[in-house]
Amino acid sequence: MAKIIGGLTTSHVPAIGGAIARGAQQEPYWKPFFDGFLPVRAWLDEVKPDIAVVFYNDHGLNFFLDKMPTFAVGAAPEYRNADEGWGIPTLPPFRGVPALSWHIINALVDKEFDITTCQEMLVDHAFTLPLKLFWPEGPCPVLTVPICINTVQFPLPSAKRCLALGKAVGEAIASWDSDKKVVVIGTGGLSHQLDGERAGFINKAFDLKFMDSLISEPEWAAQYSIHELVEKTGTQGVELLMWLATRAAVPGRVRKVHTNYHIPISNTAAGMMALAALD
Ligand code: DHB
Ligand code: FE
Repeated sequence: MAKIIGGLTTSHVPAIGGAIARGAQQEPYWKPFFDGFLPVRAWLDEVKPDIAVVFYNDHGLNFFLDKMPTFAVGAAPEYRNADEGWGIPTLPPFRGVPALSWHIINALVDKEFDITTCQEMLVDHAFTLPLKLFWPEGPCPVLTVPICINTVQFPLPSAKRCLALGKAVGEAIASWDSDKKVVVIGTGGLSHQLDGERAGFINKAFDLKFMDSLISEPEWAAQYSIHELVEKTGTQGVELLMWLATRAAVPGRVRKVHTNYHIPISNTAAGMMALAALD
């Protein structure tokens, strides 16, 4: 059976793509952010996952406001990136693994999740940049399964529902008849708000408590409704739902490999966690 080796979570910000293209990783603004990934890359070199299952939220590249699935799972042989209008380079296509995609899709529908299945799917900065941060050299070495959770148009799925989705995805991976090693990735958050009266809003105390809770008490954030999470973390901070799904997909106890938290990258409190599965 396939083995889940752990979970990786990180913020995603389009400006990271510009910094990578310019080679700005050592500049004072960027260094504390990029340095956070170094110990994680060393761990990935050691554990060598074959596949990344990636929870992310599309921002209008593949799904627009006219058709907005709550949960969507990619089942394509490859996933192309395209211009989102941020002025950052488009990355080469990412390879899919349809056999695992369909296994996950079947398992989710069996467990009564109403998902959208995508045999074609463009992937935006929320998918591409984290993969580039974890595997900066050359083409992405892991096969991928994108799972998109709507955080851009209300109503959004609850934290409790995203935990349930993550758990079901984790169980599906663990029941896949394969010797592959799988890492689960979640991208988004932490606190940030890009628009409206609270533009620039950051909540460091909440972010740090949330990161702590993911290690031994992942249900902690589910005490809050979506509106409470938006109040505490900002309209886009609610992207932390991807972190919850990721943690729930990794069964049992985890060991903290490395974490980083840096304010700000663009308008965002940039967080990162690498958790190794213990069970
Ligand atoms: C920014 C953050 C995001 O999560 C995003 O999707 C786009 C922009 C920002 O801080 O600039
Ligand atoms: Fe975002």
